[in-house]
Amino acid sequence: MTPTALVKTPAEGQQQAPAVEYAARFSHVSKSFGRRGEQQLVLDDISLDVEAGSFVTLLGASGCGKSTLLNLVAGLDKPSAGTIEVPGGRPALMFQEHALFPWLTAGQNIELALKTRGLPKPERRGEAERLLELVRLKGAHRKRVHELSGGMRQRVALARALAQDSQLLLMDEPFAALDAITRDVLHEELTRIWAETQVSVLFVTHNVREAVRLAQRVVLLSSRPGRIAHEWQVDYPQPRRVEDAAVASLSIEITEHLRGEIRRHGHH
Ligand SMILES: Nc1ncnc2c1ncn2[C@@H]1O[C@H](COP(=O)(O)OP(=O)(O)OP(=O)(O)O)[C@@H](O)[C@H]1O
Ligand SMILES: [Mg+2]
Repeated sequence: MTPTALVKTPAEGQQQAPAVEYAARFSHVSKSFGRRGEQQLVLDDISLDVEAGSFVTLLGASGCGKSTLLNLVAGLDKPSAGTIEVPGGRPALMFQEHALFPWLTAGQNIELALKTRGLPKPERRGEAERLLELVRLKGAHRKRVHELSGGMRQRVALARALAQDSQLLLMDEPFAALDAITRDVLHEELTRIWAETQVSVLFVTHNVREAVRLAQRVVLLSSRPGRIAHEWQVDYPQPRRVEDAAVASLSIEITEHLRGEIRRHGHH
């Protein structure tokens, strides 16, 4: 970089790319399962950048390889070919099932993640309280998991994921088991938290409206094998609602593509 490049006006400053401009980069990633001879190609030649600070939803029919892809980013499995770069370190993961420890309280579940992250003990309590407040569960610190509703459990799971202080948050259908109203509220909270924390989010769903409601970018995966079939930029301002006309009309367009993918592969 030349010295003059360091002198920037506020306008240029906003355009300035951060040191690493992507939170995850997939380069020609393929994944097969099974033994030699009877291999099933699940993901085929996926190349994709999740820009730093962006919110990307990955959409596709059941079985197209969405969870497989997230597992690869999380480092739970290795690609058969290609590379995945995650420059910001280990991503945080959140699943459809909250996966909280039932013998711990909400606060203790979060404090455990803070401990794993290496936060000194005296700071954990305060930080857990702050995270509970962020997911609007102030005062739930001492509640046990079974005392919480499904929506509250997912909030705790989100707070725990945020406790890892990762630059990349991977979410695998985290709200799929919730009723529509609770899901709506959590969409609002997630968009707010995303804007506040500037975490990058890669969010998997088979719910088209949810994908459009949340994302700056919707990536549609084809089925068998999973390839990038189509991509949409969603430019409507946040906060959005699933009922917004703009969300609805783009959802209709995307649903047509998704149906086309499902028809082409003849399952469901
Ligand atoms: N560890 C594994 N071993 C063998 N096959 C696997 C493994 N993980 C996934 N698969 C297969 O890969 C394919 C894609 O599975 P994956 O769970 O990624 O789909 P998905 O898109 O997440 O589906 P859903 O929307 O139902 O969650 C499926 O055919 C599945 O059986
Ligand atoms: Mg899945």
